[in-house]
Amino acid sequence: MADFHSLQVSRIDRLTDQAVKVTLDIPNELADNFSFLPGQYITLDVAVGEEKVRRSYSLCSAPSIQGSISVGVKEIPNGQVSPVLNRQIKVGDSIECMPPMGNFTWTKEAQGSAHVVLIGGGSGITPLLSIATTILESNESSKVSLMYGNKNGDSIMFLEDIQAFEQQYPSRFEVIHVFDQPRKKKGLFSSKTMENIAHKEGLISKSLLLGMLNSMNIPVEAAHFYICGPSPMMRSCQQALKSIEVVDERIHVEFFTEKSDEDKAAALLGDADEAFEGKAMVQIQLDGNSQSIEVEERDTVLNAALDNGIDAPYACMVGACTTCKAKLVKGQIEMDDQTALLPKEVEEGYILTCQSHPKSSYIEVDYDA
Ligand code: FES
Repeated sequence: MADFHSLQVSRIDRLTDQAVKVTLDIPNELADNFSFLPGQYITLDVAVGEEKVRRSYSLCSAPSIQGSISVGVKEIPNGQVSPVLNRQIKVGDSIECMPPMGNFTWTKEAQGSAHVVLIGGGSGITPLLSIATTILESNESSKVSLMYGNKNGDSIMFLEDIQAFEQQYPSRFEVIHVFDQPRKKKGLFSSKTMENIAHKEGLISKSLLLGMLNSMNIPVEAAHFYICGPSPMMRSCQQALKSIEVVDERIHVEFFTEKSDEDKAAALLGDADEAFEGKAMVQIQLDGNSQSIEVEERDTVLNAALDNGIDAPYACMVGACTTCKAKLVKGQIEMDDQTALLPKEVEEGYILTCQSHPKSSYIEVDYDA
């Protein structure tokens, strides 16, 4: 069953015209449920008019902070949940929240690395801030380099935190801001102010990233790279790092928006059977209960489960968050996208049920595994 807890909003800080930091109190009795690794996310179930809508947000606070967790939320024009969190919620309100999850974390291997490079775009800074804080606070031998892309100086989320890192850790933290639409004075009498933050101009692209790695003297052969931001930026960065032979194990990416088709990787898992004719009987194991449902090939296992009143866990519905992960015990499914799963999880038979279509006539899926 989806494991939601009611948490109280204890603080709201405005970060930019379009973004806020929302802090939620964690009562003592839920401290274990809400312990987390830097880089993980939570899922909120927010009332939007008559409806309840789920969205996942990366935690920007560090695990070292006791008694509360914070998320950074950028308002998406015509979005559903982000305008509510930016404009409507108040201190004292309660929000339904699922405990932290996610694989985009400061791994054991990365903890042994002397240099961690964080590459963020827009609100992609949120998990990177948690990772940076944790490294700087806890690992005196590690350096952190941040490359952060924004429209201009007004759209930088967590600018004060970034400036505090620069002051507090001058030999261990450095940042390069990248603006694709920097403010410029147009004409003598323009009231527009120039950017007062040192920056590079453009989008974080393959060539810009390679240039920055070079100018920052980053030991690329030993560093770990964490990338979170818009899909094209993440793809360019991955290509750039692969072109200089950074191995996959040292490239960590977090997709939090709908992926483009180029970023998806379909996968066929399990054993086929001859009898499949576009419809499957799917046996679902959840919270110790078992239920059989019919799932059409064009539908996903998760959609069909929800339509049948099964309280299966889910959040993003786009294959990014892994909340809907379950184990394929029998039969065959095809996933539209499996990139959010770790290779080890795919090997062990885990699937994202929001991405899984039946490909055999009988299937068993276990959410409890
Ligand atoms: S609900 Fe997020 S990956 Fe399936």
